Amino acid sequence: MAVREVLRIGNPALLERAIDVVDFDTEALHGLVSDLFDTMVAENGAGLAAPQVGVLQRVVIFGVQENSRYADAESVPETVLINPEIEVLGDSMQGMWEGCLSVPGMRGYVERPSHIIYRGFDQFGKLIECEVQGFHAVVVQHECDHLDGILYPSRIQDMSLFGFEEELAAEDI
Ligand code: NI
Repeated sequence: MAVREVLRIGNPALLERAIDVVDFDTEALHGLVSDLFDTMVAENGAGLAAPQVGVLQRVVIFGVQENSRYADAESVPETVLINPEIEVLGDSMQGMWEGCLSVPGMRGYVERPSHIIYRGFDQFGKLIECEVQGFHAVVVQHECDHLDGILYPSRIQDMSLFGFEEELAAEDI
């Protein structure tokens, strides 16, 4: 078990574009994936991207069972997604209060496309393709943003809907 330190907003590594994974099913990649899961579980997150632990590779993980940080959210299967691409279906948008382990203690209201297909590979190099909506779609887009150096606060349109969890009205988030 290796819980890695999660970099916080302000660390320049979080603004970098990560590079594609070239070699699959390697000891190094399996170790990274294992550490990402250990870290996500330890921090009670819904997802984690490799750049958040200082590894600038296009690897994200996500998965939500019952999560006290997202009490009303539907469950999302545990997924490893590498070199992802997202295709937006339709033009419907949805807004959700997002949080991020790199922006601890804060939440912000972000609107994103509500219906997507994502494609990529798992850690063994197996092709993944999945059509999702709702919370699942939000989690995938949030994590994939990290691979392009984008943190959710830069996607908030109304900055009055951003702040510390403890200050925001509990019924709104
Ligand atoms: Ni995040």
